[in-house]
Amino acid sequence: MGVTVVDHPLVQHKLTIMRSKETSTASFRRLLREISLLLCYEVTRDLELTTRTIDTPMQEMEAPTLEGKKLVFASVLRAGNGLLDGMLDLVPAARVAHVGLYRDHETLEAVEYFFKAPSDLENRLVIVVDPMLATANSAVAAIDKLKERGATNLRFVCLLAAPEGIERFTKAHPDVPVFTAAIDEKLNELGYIVPGLGDAGDRLYGTK
Ligand code: PRP
Ligand code: URA
Repeated sequence: MGVTVVDHPLVQHKLTIMRSKETSTASFRRLLREISLLLCYEVTRDLELTTRTIDTPMQEMEAPTLEGKKLVFASVLRAGNGLLDGMLDLVPAARVAHVGLYRDHETLEAVEYFFKAPSDLENRLVIVVDPMLATANSAVAAIDKLKERGATNLRFVCLLAAPEGIERFTKAHPDVPVFTAAIDEKLNELGYIVPGLGDAGDRLYGTK
């Protein structure tokens, strides 16, 4: 399935501003929303179309329209919501799943604290969003859970990925394509992506 790096110049420019520790919470949040529009454009590029008959003010025509059931965005809380907002701007009729997970700072294991999703996941494309793919423990756990609840057609979108996370993720879920704005150098000894951008949730919400 593989990994797509979305190397659009606007994405790369905005990502550089987000990485800088001088960037404020307000700017970080706005930039993440802006980048999410561009990532959404890429991850939905091959959605299938059908046609429907409409009347323009001039005449009747067969016009393209999205085929199939409405897609689902699954946000991995908290930081996933920073990507979710922009995606919903582009696909406002999408359904939303929330997967509440946090990384235990000692073990780096993902701990689940919340899950709510549409009941008919098996019939829908599910696009999982979380800005950071570090060890991939959170992403793997989120997708395990969504599959357990019936999802079969999934994609994963993040902003930054570590090579270690990509390796683990693609082994665990080889059927799930990954879209990322960048692949960084490595994880540090605390499991943070370097050079990275720090803690995405803290930077997005001004916590620390
Ligand atoms: C961050 C991030 C991912 C996870 C990535 O969330 O948003 O969910 O870490 O790390 P991993 O690939 O090693 O699992 P965090 O646990 O800090 O929670 P938060 O979004 O609530 O801040
Ligand atoms: N989660 C983050 O928010 N940042 C990292 O660098 C790794 C995990």
